[in-house]
Amino acid sequence: MKKPPKVEFRNVSLAYGDHVVLDGISFRVESGEMKVVLGQSGSGKSTILRLAIGLLKPDSGQIFLDGEDITSMSDDDLAVVRRRMSFVFQEGALFNSLSVYDNIAYRPRELGWSEERIELRVREVLQFVDLEEVADSLPGGLSGGTQRRVAIARAIVDSPDVIFYDEPTVGLDPQTAHKLCEAAVRLRDLEGVTSLFVTHKLDDLRFLSSRYFLIDHSGIPEMHDKTDRLCLINTRFLMLRKAGIAFDGTIEQMSASEDPFLRDFMNIDEEP
Ligand SMILES: Nc1ncnc2c1ncn2[C@@H]1O[C@H](COP(=O)(O)OP(=O)(O)O)[C@@H](O)[C@H]1O
Ligand SMILES: [Mg+2]
Repeated sequence: MKKPPKVEFRNVSLAYGDHVVLDGISFRVESGEMKVVLGQSGSGKSTILRLAIGLLKPDSGQIFLDGEDITSMSDDDLAVVRRRMSFVFQEGALFNSLSVYDNIAYRPRELGWSEERIELRVREVLQFVDLEEVADSLPGGLSGGTQRRVAIARAIVDSPDVIFYDEPTVGLDPQTAHKLCEAAVRLRDLEGVTSLFVTHKLDDLRFLSSRYFLIDHSGIPEMHDKTDRLCLINTRFLMLRKAGIAFDGTIEQMSASEDPFLRDFMNIDEEP
């Protein structure tokens, strides 16, 4: 039997008071897929994430995770489902009094892992985000970009199925933003993590749609760049506009679209 989508919104509406933010939207994110959610400020991107993690209930419609309807779930059942998810937000929300190591070890300790197992895994995820050298540092002394990569390491420590990123590159210089996107791409391509990646930056979209990781013959992961042949099969784009979905599809379809709004967006910060 075919697996249900990892995340599915079915006819979901949400208003804050009389301000309709989402008006009957439907979309799916398949297992192992990254869905990049685009849209102007105020278009409802963060609202979608809050709905997906069950922090908000829709006014109507249903939201499924692994085929389970979370809109009619008890809080206890929802708590169980939430254990399979992680979040990376703009505000890293690291504990400033704890070292990077202890920040990442926080959840495994809550889960009662042995210190040996924790140490192995913390080293592994720090290596994954290329930050082994900061294990003993306090977050306050690190740059914003490094803190956000620590937040990614913390988010993946107990191997979630789904990661929700809410504009994780805002306020980062381009090089640092690329490092962060690279971590998300590694998770997508090497670990099969499903994700919703919210952004309004065209540069993120370009990076996420042109880079991919493969394991080479000697077993080493290597990043490839396909800027001129955008051919990804595990990355899709969702554009919000006027409380609805203006576009849902691949980057090729998006680049070929005649829709003036999409064309505008794709050209916004094109070099002259
Ligand atoms: N708790 C809230 N109460 C009232 N209005 C809200 C609330 N949260 C968000 N909004 C409004 O809903 C709209 C969508 O918000 P949001 O999902 O945060 O947009 P985005 O993340 O795309 O910038 C915005 O106009 C915002 O002002
Ligand atoms: Mg937002």
